[in-house]
Amino acid sequence: MLIHNPDEHHLRAIQEWLIAEATQCGQSFICNWNTISDAFNEGCMLVETEQDKPVSFFTFCSGRRVTEGLVAATVPAWRGRGIGTRMMNAVQTHLYATGAWVIHVECCPSASEKFWRKLGYLDYPPGHWRKAAPNLHLYRSRGVPQTVTTNVSRVDLWFKDMGVPSSDPPNASFSTQHELAIPIDLDWRARVFDRNGNHAEDKIKRLAQRQCFEGGFLVAESADWETADSDGR
Ligand SMILES: CC(C)(COP(=O)(O)OP(=O)(O)OC[C@H]1O[C@@H](n2cnc3c(N)ncnc32)[C@H](O)[C@@H]1OP(=O)(O)O)[C@@H](O)C(=O)NCCC(=O)NCCS
Repeated sequence: MLIHNPDEHHLRAIQEWLIAEATQCGQSFICNWNTISDAFNEGCMLVETEQDKPVSFFTFCSGRRVTEGLVAATVPAWRGRGIGTRMMNAVQTHLYATGAWVIHVECCPSASEKFWRKLGYLDYPPGHWRKAAPNLHLYRSRGVPQTVTTNVSRVDLWFKDMGVPSSDPPNASFSTQHELAIPIDLDWRARVFDRNGNHAEDKIKRLAQRQCFEGGFLVAESADWETADSDGR
C-alpha cells in the first residue's frame, strides 16, 4: 500500500465512512469535515488506499518547517492491524523529505496517546505553552543531521526565563553541528558557545533571529545563531 494525495472520489469515500462511523459509534471526525475538506483543497491530505478505497488518512497544516497534524484515522474495521503505524511512517518520511523538520499532534481523542507515543512522539518540556492546552500535545523531530560550517558549537537551554540563576545546570544542551528543532518559549534563557569556548547568554529571542521561531519551536541551522549573535542584540 502507498500513501498519496486523494482525489475527489477518495474524499467522498472518506466522507461516507465518517458518516457511517458516526451513525454506528456515535462519534467520528465527521464533525471536523470542514477542516478535512479544507486540507484536501490545500493539498494537505494524504491517504493510504487498498484497491483504491481509503483505509487511512492524515490531514495537516503545513508551516515552513513545523507541520501541524490535524486529523489521523484508520477505517474502524481495520484498526489495530498496523495500518495507522505504516501510514504515519510513510507520512513522516514524505513530510520530512519535503521540508518539515517537526510534526506536531494533538491527542484527541486521548486514547490515541499510545499510538503517537509508539511512533516516537515526545512531550513538550515543562513550562512550554503547549503544555497548558486541555488535550495532550506531542511532537516528533526528523533529527536528520546537516553538515553546517559555523563557529557555534553548542547551545545550552533552560526551560525557564531569565529568573533562573545561570549557575543552575541547563535543562538541555544541543550540538549545533546539526539543525535544531527544539520546543521553546521565547523568554527562556539560552547560552550559545562558540568553538573557542566564548559564550553569549540571554533570552532565546535576543540570541536567535526571528525567522528561527516557528509554531513554538526554535528551528535553526547553527549558522543562524552565528548571524543572530552579531545582528540581533
Ligand atoms: C489512532 C488510529 C489512527 C491508529 O490507527 P491504527 O491503524 O489502529 O494503528 P495501529 O494498528 O498501527 O496501532 C498502533 C498502536 O496504537 C494503538 N492504538 C491505536 N488506536 C488506539 C486507540 N484508539 N486507543 C488505544 N490504542 C490505540 C494500538 O493498540 C497499537 O498498539 P499495540 O500494537 O501495542 O496494540 C486509529 O486507531 C483511529 O482511527 N482511531 C480513531 C481516531 C483517532 O483516535 N485518531 C487520532 C487522532 S489524534
